[in-house]
Amino acid sequence: WRVDVVVLGSANADLIVRVARRPGPGETVLGSDTEILPGGKGANVAVAAARLGASVALLGAVGTDANGDLLLDSLRSAGVATDRVRRSPRPTGTAYITVDEAAENSIIVSPGANTDLDVSDVDLTGAKVLACSLEIPVPVVAHAVRTAVRTGVRPVLNLSPVTDFDAFEGLDPLVVNEHEAELLGGDPAELLALGPRSVVITKGGNGALLATPAGVEEVAAPQVDVVDTTGAGDAFVGALSAALADGADLSAAVRLAVRVASKSVTARGAQPSYPTRADLDA
Ligand code: RIB
Ligand code: NA
Repeated sequence: WRVDVVVLGSANADLIVRVARRPGPGETVLGSDTEILPGGKGANVAVAAARLGASVALLGAVGTDANGDLLLDSLRSAGVATDRVRRSPRPTGTAYITVDEAAENSIIVSPGANTDLDVSDVDLTGAKVLACSLEIPVPVVAHAVRTAVRTGVRPVLNLSPVTDFDAFEGLDPLVVNEHEAELLGGDPAELLALGPRSVVITKGGNGALLATPAGVEEVAAPQVDVVDTTGAGDAFVGALSAALADGADLSAAVRLAVRVASKSVTARGAQPSYPTRADLDA
């Protein structure tokens, strides 16, 4: 069957607790009940793209534990193909997430099974677009990007979490948030000089900036009531990848991605908050 978007990345169980404020060293604070929701940057991108109607396969790894089942269930109910998701003897990746009163999150990731991914898992069969992020071994991502460039698959990379990475050549686009952009030198011209064909800088409630050698375009975001920003960047990349695979130009893809990411912050969690086309029109 048809695959438009192949996503390479992590799958994590998100253990979420809401707090008034975070504890300092040696301090204890009480929080809300724990919610366990499907997350992980790769699985999030895959679900976001599939909700919008793309046909999507995830290249990933989860454990044989209950959290592995939680991830596979969420992927399958969104319509993501999971035949390229491996089950590993290590525990499913876990993200320990606190969300504070300002709806800001802090995250500790225990990668577990995600660490098991290796270059032999890179299978881009049928893909128009490869979407990847960096919560998995970096050499695997670099290999996938280079394979995509060589075989005519359009590579999209979210440089998150920031790490040493050197396979920028041919990325279309390289996606970074403002913090990541700063660490790479700051302005769009410097990011383009690393070798991608295009760069997108996401700016949270301020939308996004798209830069190509032809120029820079700003896309504003709608005003929304922010509940939880967890996974908003992944919603952005999933929507962008779905639109590109569907034949949209990069500017139209960024405009859809800003709308989808803005919608996602209005509900709790990552995957459970990602909209369908119908949700967007509502
Ligand atoms: O980008 C958001 C994701 O980061 C969360 O779902 C969590 O799993 C961490 O990987
Ligand atoms: Na959300």
